[in-house]
Amino acid sequence: MPHRAAVLAALETIPDPRTGQGLVSSGMVQGLMVADDRAGFVLEVPVADAARYAPVRDAAEAALKALPGMVRVSVVLTSEAPPTAASSRKAGLSAAALDQGRVRAPVATERPAHVRRVLAVGSGKGGVGKSTVAVNLAAAFARCGLSTGILDADVYGPSLPTMLHLSGRPDYIDGAMVPLQVRGLRAMSVGLLMKGDDAMIWRGPMASQALTQMLTQTRWGTGAAPLDILVVDLPPGTGDVQLTLIQKTPLDGAVIVSTPQEMALADARRAHTLFQRVNIPTLGLIENMIGPVFGQGGAAAEAARLGVDLLGELPLDAAVREAGDAGAPMASGPIADRFDAMAHRLVEKLGL
Ligand SMILES: Nc1ncnc2c1ncn2[C@@H]1O[C@H](COP(=O)(O)OP(=O)(O)O)[C@@H](O)[C@H]1O
Ligand SMILES: [Mg+2]
Repeated sequence: MPHRAAVLAALETIPDPRTGQGLVSSGMVQGLMVADDRAGFVLEVPVADAARYAPVRDAAEAALKALPGMVRVSVVLTSEAPPTAASSRKAGLSAAALDQGRVRAPVATERPAHVRRVLAVGSGKGGVGKSTVAVNLAAAFARCGLSTGILDADVYGPSLPTMLHLSGRPDYIDGAMVPLQVRGLRAMSVGLLMKGDDAMIWRGPMASQALTQMLTQTRWGTGAAPLDILVVDLPPGTGDVQLTLIQKTPLDGAVIVSTPQEMALADARRAHTLFQRVNIPTLGLIENMIGPVFGQGGAAAEAARLGVDLLGELPLDAAVREAGDAGAPMASGPIADRFDAMAHRLVEKLGL
């Protein structure tokens, strides 16, 4: 399994055309995700430099692919235009707020039709169990009797094709994609729209466009049969790609998944900050993989510090992984019960 240090070392061998230094020491590696056999990061450059950095992106991908054990690599080159003074004034943001670089001009969001609530599942880091939680929470909402959809928006590593055995291209009716029906859920995945692994290399604007499209151009519900809740599995990380995605997505709330390790918790904090920046309420933290390997309890303290609820804790349990690998969420047993309890609390918080 490739290590973060090896990934960073490989990226450092590639010179940044602007500084002549390595990409890492030039601060060009953002939102680095290393998990199992895959890695990805965001290369954010000024619009004027986008063309110049395309070969850098290619070199970074080649360097990562050359690492032993590395199968899937995605380097996302983004070059977002900074908000103009005029668009900021229109959005009611002061020049000072923009200068701080913390606030971006809000982007128009479009709610998907006939969907009552949209809940995001996010994490600051890949591999913490975000998709596992998203799928199992969706299954728990369905057990509560809610009509439930799940959108796999993880452009770096879509999981639903595996975790729910989704395959095939979605059908279109009147220009709208029809979600796949699986285990009582209506499901869509960016993975269904990608052709092979190369399609993993999505540019920031492309990624957010694809997500907006899947969100608003999918027939999640109809007037007669609305969807009660749509669970969105966001890409991991807290970089600009994530910010753009959540800015454009009409989310009613978010849950953050974290493992007990301090590193992952620091990432959870960053994820909370990201949601705060766009006024999306964090409805709770979920501590995943507790037990003798990673410990327990870090999330309770962190939740208290952040002023958010600890929604629940999930043990590190091979059955969870096996269920995911087998394409079926946990349907019963103590872990399914924990998801049911979390789903009930979220139903209350979301006013469903
Ligand atoms: N509580 C758990 N116990 C055991 N394995 C888990 C647990 N949660 C997640 N996993 C496994 O860890 C891996 C990463 O989980 P995943 O949901 O894909 O993470 P993410 O979406 O955050 O990258 C998967 O193989 C998954 O089955
Ligand atoms: Mg995932």
